[in-house]
Parts: sequence; structure tokens; C-alpha cells
Amino acid sequence: MQTILEKITQLKKEKDAVILAHYYVPDDVQAISDFVGDSYFLSKKATEAPQQTILFCGVSFMGESAKILNPDKTILMADDKADCPMAHMVSIEKIKEIRNTYDDLAVVCYINSTAEIKSYSDVCVTSSNAVEIVTALPQKSIFFIPDKNLAHYIATQVPDKNFIYHDGYCPIHDRISPEAVVACKEKHPNAKILVHPECPPNVVALADYTGSTSGIIDFATKDRGTEFIICTEEGIGYELRQKNPQKTFLFPEKNQTCQDMKLITLEDIANTLETGNNQVHLDEEMMKKARHSLAKMHEIAK
Ligand code: 13P
Ligand code: SF4
Repeated sequence: MQTILEKITQLKKEKDAVILAHYYVPDDVQAISDFVGDSYFLSKKATEAPQQTILFCGVSFMGESAKILNPDKTILMADDKADCPMAHMVSIEKIKEIRNTYDDLAVVCYINSTAEIKSYSDVCVTSSNAVEIVTALPQKSIFFIPDKNLAHYIATQVPDKNFIYHDGYCPIHDRISPEAVVACKEKHPNAKILVHPECPPNVVALADYTGSTSGIIDFATKDRGTEFIICTEEGIGYELRQKNPQKTFLFPEKNQTCQDMKLITLEDIANTLETGNNQVHLDEEMMKKARHSLAKMHEIAK
């Protein structure tokens, strides 16, 4: 009888498929994926993959971005119920209202947004390139959507821009509190604090390093320290421990888990590859407009 891993390997060959996964999905899913990375790496990999089918282990905006950038490929979601709540925390009406209020404005959307929001934005960013991209924009005013926390972080790095904030947030990062981080640091005074910029500003203020999931992994791997307090989703622990078995990673809150990312299972992967279910389909016109903001991100970040 075939194991689930043998089945996935066979189906990948038969269907000419590559598996891309985010660092927040369950450990066993990361372990069998062809590429695991942060949102920017995954959107780049999606454009470089020679395979005809991309199976995404992540949330909907990741699969949508892959489809927008590769309209002729088949994009499958391992679980099509896995969605990022923050991606829905801004409306088209709000974008129109701000466009009508400010001159010399760029609407900058975090990649954690729906395809429709991307189609109304000027440029897309991820946490690993947001500072670089906002710095490169000629416009003075920046309406940053949907994440208020990431917007506040970028504003500290690009102080000459006029930021208009929105009230979206990631429920997992936003509930990481400075009290929990300080309590953890008191118990582990030599630990360095590594923070994702989706965390609130009073947590970012405590950081020894702030960056994307890949940035956090790189920092912890290269640093000579042996203890790290990790302020992001706990799935990142898998790669951190793989790369640094001798180091200690501490998570300050009891619950740093994204339930949507955890929906994905090995069984989902095998079923989706076998049936071809959970295909990403988007309106052609919308894709064309949304492609502009993603392509601009790739052009500047290059
Ligand atoms: P990055 O992996 O790009 O840092 O993004 C974090 C995230 O919240 C993805 O949903
Ligand atoms: Fe969205 Fe937060 Fe989950 Fe990332 S961790 S997918 S931002 S809810």
C-alpha cells in the first residue's frame, strides 16, 4: 500500500505540479513542499516555476497572486477555505474616498489583500520589500492598506512620506502584547527579540530585528546568539529549528497560531492533486488591472 508521501510524489509527476508553501502551514506540509518561503519569495517562485500546475499551501491571496501573475497556469489551493481575514479588511469605496481626498497619492496594498483590492491599487508590497518600494514611489502621500501595523512600521522607516492609515490588522500578530514579550525577556535576558512588522508598534519598539518571516529566519540563523523571542506565527518554528537545532526559540504568547494556515493537510494535497479541485478562477479584466500592481512590485524589488 502506497504511503501518502509516495502518492503525492507520484501525483506531482503525473500532473506536472510544483508545491509551494508558506512558513505558517503545518510542519509535515512544509517538509514535503518543493519550496517554502515568505510571501515575496512565493510570488516570485510562482513566476519562475516550469511546471504547468502550481499547488499552493497557504491562504487565498497567495493563490490569487500566483494566478494573476501566471494566468495560463493551473493554480490549485490545497484547501480553498484557508483565507486571510486581513485581506478583506478594506473596501473599494474606501479607496475611492481617499483617492478623491488627496492629490499626489499612491494606493499601496499589502500582498495580504484580495485580487479586487489589488486591481484598485497602484502598487503591491510584501513585508520584505515594503520599505524599498514606498521609498521609490514619487508620490508624497501613501494610503497603505489594509494593515495599520505594517503601515506604522514603514512610516518610521520612510519619514518623509505622508501616510494615511487604515484600520486593518492580522488578528494573530495584533494580539502579541508588549507585556508578554517583556515577561519572556525577563526570564531569558540574553534572548534577542525578532518581530514581524504586522505586530503592533509597541511590540516593534522592543525588537532587536524587524522583518518578514524569511528575514527573521535569516537573522536567527546568522546571529551568534542562541536564544530568540519570536513575535510572529508559530509555524515559523519548523524552519528555525531545522536550520538551527542547537538554538532556542521562544514564543511569548500562548496562542500565536493562524487557524487558516493550519487547515492544510497532506490528505488535502493528495486529494487536490488527484481531483484538480480548488482551482483559482478570477475575472480576466480584474486580473489585468491587479497584474499591474504586482508587476510593479516585482519591477521595483528586482
Ligand atoms: P511574510 O511571510 O511575507 O513575512 O508574511 C507573513 C504573513 O502574514 C503571510 O500571511
Ligand atoms: Fe493573515 Fe495573519 Fe494568518 Fe498571515 S497570519 S494569513 S496575515 S491572518
